[in-house]
Amino acid sequence: MKKLRIANIPGDGIGKEVVPAATAVLKTISEIHGGLNFEFTDFPWSCEYYLEHGEMMPKDGLERLRDFDAIFLGAVGNIKLVPDHISLWGLLIKIRREFEQVINIRPAKVIKGVKSPLLNPKDFDLIVVRENSEGEYSSVGGKIYQGEDEIVIQNSIFSRKGTERAIRYAFELASKRGKHVTSATKSNGIFHSMPFWDGVFKEVSNDFPDINTDSQHIDALSAFFVTHPDKFDVIVASNLFGDILTDLGAAIMGSIGIAPAANINVNGKYPSMFEPVHGSAPDIIGKGIANPIGQIWTAKMMLDHFGEEELGTVLLNVIESVTSDGFLTPDLGGLYTTKEVTEKIINRLKNK
Ligand code: NAI
Ligand code: MG
Repeated sequence: MKKLRIANIPGDGIGKEVVPAATAVLKTISEIHGGLNFEFTDFPWSCEYYLEHGEMMPKDGLERLRDFDAIFLGAVGNIKLVPDHISLWGLLIKIRREFEQVINIRPAKVIKGVKSPLLNPKDFDLIVVRENSEGEYSSVGGKIYQGEDEIVIQNSIFSRKGTERAIRYAFELASKRGKHVTSATKSNGIFHSMPFWDGVFKEVSNDFPDINTDSQHIDALSAFFVTHPDKFDVIVASNLFGDILTDLGAAIMGSIGIAPAANINVNGKYPSMFEPVHGSAPDIIGKGIANPIGQIWTAKMMLDHFGEEELGTVLLNVIESVTSDGFLTPDLGGLYTTKEVTEKIINRLKNK
């Protein structure tokens, strides 16, 4: 019996609605599978917790999370209670940084029954590997002078270690998928970091002779996401490029409510964290209509991470059978509730 200990952090807003839904799905999966046993521990860390305790998580919060096999997070943020930079940096970003979750992966694909805003989405199925620890998101820089003489400098950090780690991860992923890696670059406009990025990409590609590659400038690449998303398999990108590209990836799928993500710790020292792309959706809290699919698909990524790829595929197929039969929440143009869509998924898993 394989036992997996999961730290659940529902967080704020609809996180509290979709995490229990996805947890129920995972429990069903372990019932069906038999050899797999999930043990969930709930942590109430959120903006409400902050109001009571003056911090987003206790001082020993990271210590308490450390020995779990994975962290399953909903969403963080309630600007009525706590400014966003405090809530996100005090919980989500702290976990990503301290637990060395240096890679962020986000798939985007056509989901049957979900209408893409693209006129001709064909059958795209891609995954973006985003460097998650350095790049353009650094705090190195500064400012001097005021008024019209004001000067601001914002540095980007590209280490060989960080760059190579992300690119290698993308190649390894592609060897299990469509055997193609696209590098998101901008070496025609960015003088130092991007030619370096291209060089490392070339070097790593030599170790993977059976993987096809291409390099696209990020501006053209973004346009191709709209015109030919079906041409991509795995795309590797720096922190900023990957951030922008993955929102576009969620958009072409049809709703941010279905988009999943994973923050991966690659050195095995700490747990990885699985969270949907969406936030706490304050406009629909408590209405019971949050789309649970982003969180449930995130659970599928967690299954893949644990080496249970077959089960992951079963789960995604069940999600697609439910959406293609028209059981959709309002963000996808349907009339079904979080509970109804979740129950459909659970019942179909049981009848597999
Ligand atoms: P959001 O993703 O919460 O909402 C954007 C729009 O998408 C809203 O109209 C919302 O109703 C809709 N939406 C999102 N998820 C949905 C779902 N599962 N089903 C149906 N509709 C859904 O982004 P927003 O409004 O910019 O941020 C709200 C709060 O969430 C802020 O405090 C923000 O900082 C936080 N946030 C947290 C994230 C995280 O924890 N990873 C990510 C993004 C935002
Ligand atoms: Mg973003």
